[in-house]
Amino acid sequence: MLGKHSKLFFFISFCALIVAIVLASWGFPKIVKRQVQKNVQIENSSKMFEKWRKLPMPLTFKVYVFNISNPEEVSEGEKPRLQEIGPYVYKEYREKTVLGYGENDTIKYTLKKSFVFDAQASGTLSEHDELTVINLTYMGVILTVNGMMPAILGSVNKALEIFFGNNLTDPFMRVKVKDLLFDGIFLNCEADNSALSLVCGTLRAKRPTTMRLADDGKGYYFSMFGHWNNTPLGPFDMVRGTENVYELGHIVGYKDRRTMKEWGDPYCGMINGSDSSIFPPIDENNVPQKLYTYDPDICRSLSVDLMGKRSIFNMSAYYYELTETALASKSVNPSNKCFCRKNWSGSHDGCLLMGVLNLMPCQGAPALISLPHFYLASEEVREYIYYGLSPDKEKHKSFIYLDPVTGVVMKGAQRIQFNIELRNMGNLPQLAKVRTGIFPLLWFDEGAEITESIKEELRHSHTLLGYVETVRWTILVIAFAAALISGVALARSGAVPHCRRNNSINFITRPSKPTSLSKH
Ligand SMILES: *[C@@H]1O[C@H](CO)[C@@H](O)[C@H](O)[C@H]1NC(C)=O
Ligand SMILES: *[C@@H]1O[C@H](CO)[C@@H](O)[C@H](O)[C@H]1NC(C)=O
Ligand SMILES: *[C@@H]1O[C@H](CO)[C@@H](O)[C@H](O)[C@H]1NC(C)=O
Ligand SMILES: *[C@@H]1O[C@H](CO)[C@@H](O)[C@H](O)[C@H]1NC(C)=O
Ligand SMILES: *[C@@H]1O[C@H](CO)[C@@H](O)[C@H](O)[C@H]1NC(C)=O
Ligand SMILES: *[C@@H]1O[C@H](CO)[C@@H](O)[C@H](O)[C@H]1NC(C)=O
Ligand SMILES: *[C@@H]1O[C@H](CO)[C@@H](O)[C@H](O)[C@H]1NC(C)=O
Ligand SMILES: *[C@@H]1O[C@H](CO)[C@@H](O)[C@H](O)[C@H]1NC(C)=O
Repeated sequence: MLGKHSKLFFFISFCALIVAIVLASWGFPKIVKRQVQKNVQIENSSKMFEKWRKLPMPLTFKVYVFNISNPEEVSEGEKPRLQEIGPYVYKEYREKTVLGYGENDTIKYTLKKSFVFDAQASGTLSEHDELTVINLTYMGVILTVNGMMPAILGSVNKALEIFFGNNLTDPFMRVKVKDLLFDGIFLNCEADNSALSLVCGTLRAKRPTTMRLADDGKGYYFSMFGHWNNTPLGPFDMVRGTENVYELGHIVGYKDRRTMKEWGDPYCGMINGSDSSIFPPIDENNVPQKLYTYDPDICRSLSVDLMGKRSIFNMSAYYYELTETALASKSVNPSNKCFCRKNWSGSHDGCLLMGVLNLMPCQGAPALISLPHFYLASEEVREYIYYGLSPDKEKHKSFIYLDPVTGVVMKGAQRIQFNIELRNMGNLPQLAKVRTGIFPLLWFDEGAEITESIKEELRHSHTLLGYVETVRWTILVIAFAAALISGVALARSGAVPHCRRNNSINFITRPSKPTSLSKH
């Protein structure tokens, strides 16, 4: 009788053990993954959808401008002395408009950013401050014309007097921060002058994103970020992650193109990674060593490298950082070779210096980007500036903290500096004596941090997952214990007599006196 019961008991608990093992090793993780996927995938029923469509909190957009302390001396050939003025702080709101759903689990949307000056966070600084900076438009036109038709440079330079609406004296400009960043600096195209028509015609044809046609069509307004403000960017095609959650957020198309033609190379034209607002959950068994982000403003994908797990807001997160290789010269990172197709300087043959990216192919303007204060750039670039640069990892790095479970960006910052070459050109009075070098204009810090309520949500989900994990192990332990006990009971009951001598459970429980078992 007892034997029969213990047989049944053993059978049931053995089945339970198998079920528990299957649940613990396959079922639970699968269920958790499904739940996470349901929450993060881009579908209008998911928790994430609204937050993805309209960012619940604004990003912080800080701008630091390099004011030139000694413009007259620089014109005479001295090294520049710069003073960083900032931050001018803006709140950056982001909203997406869904245009539709596409093949292969994608969603098509446009992104609209809007910037609002945050006077309180900017402290004593005002948008109406007037600063002296490198004259980006002037250098832009001169370098572009020089690249296309150096012979007419002299007459273009004269025509620029009309273009800028005042007399040319030096390659610098005194501007209000507001105009430089968003409102625009007027460039006059209204005059009967062949060189001027050429410049304006080129602008009309190339339509650099930083130039906005005046309402009356008589000229252009140039600003650094005006084209971002309240203008829908895109459309982007992004993977929604309803099929494979680890593909979530990958941009596969921009403006209905699958690759970028700007660099004239299939490798550098690859659209890789996310728009940096959303990332897939991290598979703990296969943590990505690199995360790609695609930024249409610089026409390229950049990657950040895994630095490890770090704690933030009392939670553990994966920490990624932009490293030296991203903007490295081709000798250091050969895969960057196609990003330096165009000549940026007379003294360097068609390629970048370490830490600098030429946006000419991308924006139609010879702007150069780097990390702030030429952090991670070659010494040669920094030497040009006499005073005012102090690269600092903590202030100037770009990084991102990701929540491992959901892939939510817990904190991140993208920091980019805009520069332009100041080039010595003997035949132009403004540039006859200047030193050639890369001249910084300003840098921005676009930072994001989750709100308290999202922090709470994440903590909550981590706690929940902790419970699930405990339950998983508890079930496993209980099932194992039950199977063990029932096995012992079964062996003791004598239901398996022929196993008695070499049965391992038997051997473990009663190694010395196997015969006593049958007495029970
Ligand atoms: C959600 O999507 C479905 C179709 O996929 C649509 O019918 C419905 O109106 C959408 N709901 C919202 C709130 O957008
Ligand atoms: C910027 O530099 C100019 C000299 O070029 C100086 O007159 C001006 O006071 C500086 N502005 C600030 C805010 O420091
Ligand atoms: C969808 O995926 C298939 C197979 O990978 C590919 O052939 C097709 O071009 C994709 N469609 C689009 C619109 O990308
Ligand atoms: C520009 O320079 C010319 C002479 O070179 C002078 O007659 C004119 O007044 C100047 N205009 C301005 C706006 O300074
Ligand atoms: C840009 O430089 C040109 C040439 O020196 C000058 O005429 C123009 O006024 C400058 N632009 C501004 C906004 O100062
Ligand atoms: C794009 O991603 C692939 C792997 O997904 C990588 O091999 C390639 O180097 C990336 N390309 C660029 C330009 O970053
Ligand atoms: C982090 O946790 C510690 C101990 O659990 C606590 O003392 C501290 O206040 C927490 N910090 C934050 C920012 O929540
Ligand atoms: C770049 O400039 C150098 C010298 O100025 C010249 O020899 C070379 O042909 C140029 N390359 C391209 C691609 O324009």
